[in-house]
Amino acid sequence: MNEIIIHDSHFYNEDCITGCQAHLPDGSVDLIVTDPPYGIAGDTLHKHYNRNEAFVMDGYIEVPAADYGDFSRRWIAEAARILRPNGAIYIVSGYTQLYHVLAALRATELLEVNHLIWKYNFGVFTRTKYVSSHYHILYYEKPGPGKRTFNLTCRYGLQENAPDGGSFNYQDREDVWIINREYKPGQVKNKNELPTALLIKMLQYSSHEGDLICDPFLGGFSTARVALGLNRRCVGFELSPAAFDRGVARLQTLTPGDLLGQLRQPQTETLANQGRSWDEAEITALLARYEALRAEGKTKKAAFEILSAEFGRGRWALERILKRRRGATDGDPIG
Ligand SMILES: C[S@@+](CC[C@H](N)C(=O)[O-])C[C@H]1O[C@@H](n2cnc3c(N)ncnc32)[C@H](O)[C@@H]1O
Repeated sequence: MNEIIIHDSHFYNEDCITGCQAHLPDGSVDLIVTDPPYGIAGDTLHKHYNRNEAFVMDGYIEVPAADYGDFSRRWIAEAARILRPNGAIYIVSGYTQLYHVLAALRATELLEVNHLIWKYNFGVFTRTKYVSSHYHILYYEKPGPGKRTFNLTCRYGLQENAPDGGSFNYQDREDVWIINREYKPGQVKNKNELPTALLIKMLQYSSHEGDLICDPFLGGFSTARVALGLNRRCVGFELSPAAFDRGVARLQTLTPGDLLGQLRQPQTETLANQGRSWDEAEITALLARYEALRAEGKTKKAAFEILSAEFGRGRWALERILKRRRGATDGDPIG
């Protein structure tokens, strides 16, 4: 066993299944974010990933495809045990072994929250079939008496509108995530390293500063770097000594919290009249003011921004009332 402690976080150069049993009590972890080995050694997909058949390359230790079902059941049972009640887990999986991961999850008490699709760039080029350019992310929770952490407005306030008029918050929480892989020419890194933006998103929605995040398959230590960068603590395992040493060396130079400064600040202030019922005088004033702004040549988007500030209500509330009242008139459509 080789344990390294950095910034209140523990990293073990050992197998994650026996490692969890040895080091992590029941219910001790707030969130698990991980990307297990793919189990594609021995089938033709390894060519796409530049893997060889030796199961070890660039410090990456593969799990033989024939063992994948049993391997998934064992590590996911440990993950379910170490999660605290109401804790959550994100598992990134390709499609080849997805059925094993789903079966292993269903063999535990964990419950599905979302089945996310991560769409990335640089899919494997093919001529005779469609280009594969997505991964699955299985987002599950452990049942408990409380509420699962889900920071609804950690990235976008509910009133923030996208340029197309839609809600940024809604768009950010749709279950297909389009996030590019990082291309870092000349830098040594794990070939399968998850993008920082993807990890930040999972950690922002599903954890708080100070929470303990676990990654049983550290690889390039990307989860650990993001966890520490967001002022969380981390515990993790990596079986390969080469990957472990490289990952630990990269962590040594990190300053905890160094990612916090680059996070977007959501606009979450509550509007003065949000949730209050409308009275006739306010509706009449709103209709008149909308007509006046449009007559001045303001676009609908600009008009709604002004109305939102003036009436202390969100765009959707304003639109609803205007649509209802102007529906029977000849006025230009609102939407
Ligand atoms: C897909 S990679 C993880 C990549 C990582 N998420 C990143 O962004 O760099 C899976 C990692 O699990 C490691 N691994 C394989 N079997 C393991 C085991 N039983 N316990 C711990 N780590 C293992 C592999 O060596 C590999 O580095």
